Amino acid sequence: MRIFITGGTGFVGSRLVPHLLQCGNTVLVLSRQANAVPGMDCEMFQGDPTQPSDWQSRAAECDAIVNLAGENIVGKRWNDEVRRALRDSRVKSTQNCVQALMRQPCRADGSPKVLVNASAIGYYGPHGDEELDEDSPPGNDFLAGLCVDWENATLPAKESGVRVVLTRIGVVLARDGGPLAKMLLPFKLGLGGPMGSGQQWLSWIHRDDLIGLITFALDNPNVSGPMNATAPQPVTNKEFGKALGRALGRPAFMPTPGFILKFVMGDGAEIVLTGQRVLPKRAQLLGYQFRFPSLDEALVEILARN
Ligand SMILES: NC(=O)c1ccc[n+]([C@@H]2O[C@H](COP(=O)([O-])OP(=O)(O)OC[C@H]3O[C@@H](n4cnc5c(N)ncnc54)[C@H](OP(=O)(O)O)[C@@H]3O)[C@@H](O)[C@H]2O)c1
Repeated sequence: MRIFITGGTGFVGSRLVPHLLQCGNTVLVLSRQANAVPGMDCEMFQGDPTQPSDWQSRAAECDAIVNLAGENIVGKRWNDEVRRALRDSRVKSTQNCVQALMRQPCRADGSPKVLVNASAIGYYGPHGDEELDEDSPPGNDFLAGLCVDWENATLPAKESGVRVVLTRIGVVLARDGGPLAKMLLPFKLGLGGPMGSGQQWLSWIHRDDLIGLITFALDNPNVSGPMNATAPQPVTNKEFGKALGRALGRPAFMPTPGFILKFVMGDGAEIVLTGQRVLPKRAQLLGYQFRFPSLDEALVEILARN
């Protein structure tokens, strides 16, 4: 398959690209940076996914688009300017990918092209202990509204016959980025523990399983619509702290108050201070086998990597 990727230089994309290449696909990566991924055996294309431009002709020639572009949500105060950047980098990029696909919605063999678009479990908003699946309604805070607009931007592609998969991504775990990278030092020093009340749910996913799910969505014609990209066993934040302490062989009793998290993570701290209990119902019904269904297994494997 010829696959066009936006956000291919990021925390998820930089691991997805080599995996797709290894599976025998041809991969084109759009990046705003020149020479963003030297050494990666794929075609790089310089351009901004939020701006319609000649990159769309290259995307239109491909069988699939994986759209992962998005301004980082963590580490900033969400003033009006930041909110606009968070929204535009996702919604406009999606609109431009959709425009590209609509030029030629079918592959050479007549089968539909595929758009695997990122979304997030923030779609559901904070929900206490309630179990959520893909049929649960959206929340009404800023992140939920952003996810709704992000997902709705794909509708014209669906209407023109493209197979659209909306991956509602949970908290992605890997050693070299995301929240786990930030937590490792305090936990190693024995200063880790529950964040905020610790009662809030944390719906996590090992990065390898997210890559597995994106690949599953690309390859499997039965996958379309929203698909939660979270492990089948979400945990409370307190349980997460205990599991990380166990995996590191360190005590994990020191609570981190919400105001410190907000200082470190900006308004993005909301994601770990509220949270939701999300289940990957669609992925499991469709037969995806999680490599890391339980947090203990996931953490042991991640921490064993160099
Ligand atoms: N990681 C998670 O835990 C998580 C959870 C839920 C949802 N998601 C979503 O999944 C997608 C991929 O996540 P990630 O963690 O890999 O993201 P990331 O590393 O923060 O960023 C992905 C890429 O987006 C591009 N980008 C950044 N700011 C942009 C802007 N203002 N305009 C256009 N492009 C911009 C960058 O590519 P270039 O600099 O090469 O252009 C970057 O490499 C994102 O949409 C994210 O919101 C991630």
